[in-house]
Amino acid sequence: MCGIIAAASNRNVGKLLVQGLHKMEYRGYDSAGIALHQNNQIAHLRTLGKVKLLEEKMISEKPKSKLGIAHTRWATHGEPSEENAHPHKSNERVYIVHNGIIENYLDLKEFLKKEGYSFSSQTDSELIAHMLEYFLAKGNSMLDSMYLTKEKLDGAYAIAAIDKEDDKNIIIARNKSPLLIGIGTDEFLAASDPLAIAQLTNEFIFLEDGDVAELSSEEFTIYDQSKNKVEREISQIDISNQATSKGEYKHFMEKEIYEQPDAILNTIDGRVGGDDVLDNIFGIGSSEIFEKVKRIQIVACGTSLHAGRVAANWFSAIAELPTQIDYASEYRYRNPHVDEDSLLVTISQSGETADTLAALRYAKEKDYLSTLTICNVPTSSLARESDYSIFTNAGPEIGVASTKAFTTQLAALMLLSLALAKSRGKNPKLRTRVITAMRSLSDTVNETLKLKDKILEIAPAIASKDNALFLGRGIFYPIAKEGALKLKEISYIHAEAYPAGELKHGPLALIDEEMPVIALAPESEIAEKLVSNLEEVKARGGTLYVFADPSITMDLKSGQVINMPKCDFLLTPIIYTIPLQILSYEVALLRGTDIDQPRNLAKSVTVE
Ligand code: F6R
Repeated sequence: MCGIIAAASNRNVGKLLVQGLHKMEYRGYDSAGIALHQNNQIAHLRTLGKVKLLEEKMISEKPKSKLGIAHTRWATHGEPSEENAHPHKSNERVYIVHNGIIENYLDLKEFLKKEGYSFSSQTDSELIAHMLEYFLAKGNSMLDSMYLTKEKLDGAYAIAAIDKEDDKNIIIARNKSPLLIGIGTDEFLAASDPLAIAQLTNEFIFLEDGDVAELSSEEFTIYDQSKNKVEREISQIDISNQATSKGEYKHFMEKEIYEQPDAILNTIDGRVGGDDVLDNIFGIGSSEIFEKVKRIQIVACGTSLHAGRVAANWFSAIAELPTQIDYASEYRYRNPHVDEDSLLVTISQSGETADTLAALRYAKEKDYLSTLTICNVPTSSLARESDYSIFTNAGPEIGVASTKAFTTQLAALMLLSLALAKSRGKNPKLRTRVITAMRSLSDTVNETLKLKDKILEIAPAIASKDNALFLGRGIFYPIAKEGALKLKEISYIHAEAYPAGELKHGPLALIDEEMPVIALAPESEIAEKLVSNLEEVKARGGTLYVFADPSITMDLKSGQVINMPKCDFLLTPIIYTIPLQILSYEVALLRGTDIDQPRNLAKSVTVE
């Protein structure tokens, strides 16, 4: 996590660097800093807290510079504080910003201390500045010093560094943390994310692991792992400003919830035709590979994992394939046995989640038939390193709590279920039924968004409690888990999810008037059983809030039933997600939390 940005230009860069940090605050927002070359000195400003505070400091100190680096932090080593904020410096000469984790930092710190360097922060990053200075002081160029430093570092990093003695060049390096160069007009830029510099250019070069590059306002040169000059492909990407501004909404999360009808249309667009899914939508040759698949392994984290749990039901029902699901952070450590003809599926909004990426890299060494990713960022590491991919086309998701990324992942996973079923010759009638339902999915999501007024009626009762329980059965259990995750991450209310049938095996003991119970009750073959489970809650004085199909009748003592729009059963998990997102948002709004940037979290988790 953390966001880094650097600029070498013919104009003043302070403002554009800070604007870039604002765009990357989703990556971390506990402190920020900047180092600017200014009349053979370095202006070095750091603040604890959000980028706005750094901006205020910049306005009062007005540094002027054509070359600089900046950083917004999500703390890993060392608490959020000004001392631990980047840029870190060495001997008032070398200044660096770093995203990632240096795993052997204790050994390297020891070595540098023996060489006379003293440390002013608790971070792993500061040693990079000292190591560069150590090699520079021995007479090496900055480029060579970066290579020598890289030889010492174990771990993940995107680094940008400047030298007080050189007001023309910035050196950047990448290993397992995203880093790209932006080609501007009379300037070159570098950043962790194209969003940070999208207002300045639409031409980007994504560096590869091991790459080092030197940027000035006039030119840039990229070197590979072995220090050979290399050309890397230039990608043209248009990220409109509209996609990264809140527009009429109070928060990005709110905007992203209401963007879901269009986002889902974008996921499906051009991928279905007639009454079936089109061939090879996951990449050339994917339909042929799918014929051979006998088993699926999903790895993902958080919300993306919940999407995977729903999809496992679809793979079974539509494609008749068994699925194993693992938390990406756990997968490598259970010595997974890989069955013949297994397909590894990763799911990730950002495509940069370190645990998921590490799981993919591990899996590529194993005997998988192929690897496939469901991802929202076409230029991401997961997309580039997987054999096949489908992009959810949801547009940038800025709110830390995932909303449209989740529902579009589900839409893409449904396309995958259909594509697997088609290649394997399974369930043609069911496929046609689902395709028909998918065509009206966006309209049903729109209708569901209109439930907001009803949700506003129940939000205060939940906002006043410290705990909440979410219940669902079958394919709705992962949706209950997603509802609980959303509520806890943005409102800080402790929330758990259970399959409703499990209540009587323990959690029923928690039920009293202080425990609101939010239940999902679609029309299904186990609807009656679910209603019985909810009766058990009612009998113990629990307050129930039930999102239910109109066919389900319940007589509640306290609480409320909210009727949901009708939809094909297989797609209802997408529909039932919507009110849970709105509920979390409205509850968080009542509790006055920082909805888009909840405490302790960051959007793109690029550390393991
Ligand atoms: C929760 C949330 C996280 C992410 C998780 C994986 O709202 O957003 O749980 O889903 O960190 O991130 P990606 O999907 O980028 O791999």
